[in-house]
Amino acid sequence: MQVFTVVSLVFAVCSVHATVYFREEFLDGDEWRSRWVDSKHKSDYGEFKLTAGNFYGDAEKDKGLQTSQDARFYATSARFEPFSNEGKSLVVQFTVKHEQKIDCGGGYVKVFPTDMDQADMHGDSTYYIMFGPDICGYSTKKVHVIFNYKGKNHLIKKEIKCKDDELSHLYTLILNPDQTYEVKIDNEKVESGTLEEDWDFLPSKKIKDPEAKKPDGWDDRAKIDDPEDTKPEDWDKPENIPDPDAKKPDDWDEDMDGEWEPPMIPNPEYKGEWKPKQIDNPDYKGAWVHPEIDNPEYSPDANIYKFDRIGVLGLDLWQVKSGTISDNFLISDDVKEAEEIGNETWGATKEPEKKMKQEQDDIKRKEEEERNKAQETEEAEEEDEEEDDGEDEEEDEDAKDEEEELSESDEAAKLKDEL
Ligand SMILES: *[C@@H]1O[C@H](CO)[C@@H](O)[C@H](O)[C@H]1NC(C)=O
Repeated sequence: MQVFTVVSLVFAVCSVHATVYFREEFLDGDEWRSRWVDSKHKSDYGEFKLTAGNFYGDAEKDKGLQTSQDARFYATSARFEPFSNEGKSLVVQFTVKHEQKIDCGGGYVKVFPTDMDQADMHGDSTYYIMFGPDICGYSTKKVHVIFNYKGKNHLIKKEIKCKDDELSHLYTLILNPDQTYEVKIDNEKVESGTLEEDWDFLPSKKIKDPEAKKPDGWDDRAKIDDPEDTKPEDWDKPENIPDPDAKKPDDWDEDMDGEWEPPMIPNPEYKGEWKPKQIDNPDYKGAWVHPEIDNPEYSPDANIYKFDRIGVLGLDLWQVKSGTISDNFLISDDVKEAEEIGNETWGATKEPEKKMKQEQDDIKRKEEEERNKAQETEEAEEEDEEEDDGEDEEEDEDAKDEEEELSESDEAAKLKDEL
């Protein structure tokens, strides 16, 4: 008996080992080009280049695919051994760094069935899952979670906010065989729930009973006119009356101007339309609730989460201002291990990355301050000279120049705001 327990325990431990289906961290120089296939669907896709960007935690480990040309579509993908997530968790994870201060552009990934033609991948290529951040202006800053179900793409009904700063962030989607899901950013849960509740995959469970009708005579008026109440005799007064204070002008000529009439003013005694007092309706039955029945169109599906032949991960993006770096792609069936890998990659480099960025920002700010100071001194000196000369004309011109400069920097500030 004891032996049996030990054996089955060993078996149980062995059978839950994790599988990493796909992992790409771009750690071998140009070799990634042999693993990733650029789409040729359009002739003018933007080019991805391998770089850690302007600031990073580790010059080698933080190298990822960066979009390098503004206002372009991007399309590239990598293939792996096809698998089904039946009965297992599915984890899709990667990092995104919008170091360019992105104005409008995607940072998501698409997970495709294995029969996807990589050389022809495009925006309408059928995918299983689309997941990750999407930013456009102020209004769109969200994490997409789209699943294909029976040939149709379904968007999550909840709004998940994405990160919009310039640092690297870790995005994780977990899809479980019990049809629950979780979205994490930087290894922290930001959303979770069930597939059935948070997407419209299936028709609703209940519908209003088409047979049910509000019974005749069902009184759903909470208040009614008081039948005892009557309009007072002196209620009705005209809304406007001739202004009693108006006087015919002295030079009024009846022959020329016609008969004089005083202007009309609102009548202070006007009370508006009379309405009877409201009282509680003694026959009130409450609001009628339409009874619901089970929707005959609804049938549960325990396999919404299941994708049979997962085989390609792709980046299919549009970017206005380029510079986004995508890295640390992982597809796995082990939630815990994915978290660990997230900790070892993004988690290990995020602090030094932030530090390097802060140092760069500090230097930029100091340079800016010094430039401004130098300019101020220069201007002050110029003004002094002009005052000495007393040449009005030149001064005017200078004032105009200054004005122009001001409006230019205003515009730059506006542009920056918009970005
Ligand atoms: C990942 O790092 C966080 C923060 O340090 C920690 O709380 C968590 O336990 C780590 N997860 C794993 C699986 O090691």
